[in-house]
Amino acid sequence: MAVIALCSASGSPGVTTTSLGLALLWPRPVLLVEADPTGGSGILAGYFRGIRAYDQGLVELALSSSEVADLLPRTTQPIGSSTAGFIAGTRAHTQAAALAGLWLPLADALRELESTGQDVLVDCGRLGLTGWPEPILAEADLALLLCRTHLPAISAARSWADTAQRGTPAWSHPTTLLVGEGQPYSAKEVGGVLRLPVLGVMADDPESAEVLHRGTSIPAGFDRSPLVRSLQAAISAIHATVSAQRAELSTEVYSGVQ
Ligand SMILES: Nc1ncnc2c1ncn2[C@@H]1O[C@H](COP(=O)(O)OP(=O)(O)O)[C@@H](O)[C@H]1O
Ligand SMILES: [Mg+2]
Repeated sequence: MAVIALCSASGSPGVTTTSLGLALLWPRPVLLVEADPTGGSGILAGYFRGIRAYDQGLVELALSSSEVADLLPRTTQPIGSSTAGFIAGTRAHTQAAALAGLWLPLADALRELESTGQDVLVDCGRLGLTGWPEPILAEADLALLLCRTHLPAISAARSWADTAQRGTPAWSHPTTLLVGEGQPYSAKEVGGVLRLPVLGVMADDPESAEVLHRGTSIPAGFDRSPLVRSLQAAISAIHATVSAQRAELSTEVYSGVQ
């Protein structure tokens, strides 16, 4: 289907948890890329509880003289028995600056994966940090700004929402994905302030989130938990949004040709 980038403006609304949850439930083969410049691979340390050692990741991609597309399969690790793979981010934030030249060729290589039937989710972490993957957000089919629904979160997201729409480069499809609706503001209110379409709302479900964030044991009823249900709804909404965008694009191209 597409390349989907996830990011945050402030705090820790759950970008990594949501990205991993989407990858594990994704209905097709999917690649999860840890492009968060914070470093320290949140997934290796969290979901994998530090058991799986850092082997290779984005730094090795950036330092290699080979084509990024050729190296992607060798840099990808499986996530359990799912059809998802992942590419680890940097070991430390000090490595992030070295990734500046990687983002554009990586964005191209990720887009090309679509022809192999693979979708891509990119955890872009917090916006604006040194070495942040701005080109990935600009090039993605859908860029999701995760935001909680309280005033400090909305206030920080507002300035980035403006940049996403009018910055250079502007993101192609900036959209917000809310976490914990009605705490206290509704999705409609937050979308109105940010002036961004709202893709959906992730349930505020701390117990289920810790399974993905820290690799805690799976509680009874996890498959039907509010978090899993909201992840499934988000997957459907992503699919519908990208399909609608593409239909619109092909109509524009068709009418331009006529
Ligand atoms: N939907 C959610 N509901 C409740 N807690 C969540 C949710 N998503 C994430 N969290 C919690 O928020 C904290 C930060 O999550 P994380 O995914 O690391 O955020 P980020 O990547 O934005 O920094 C963790 O304690 C995680 O369990
Ligand atoms: Mg994170």
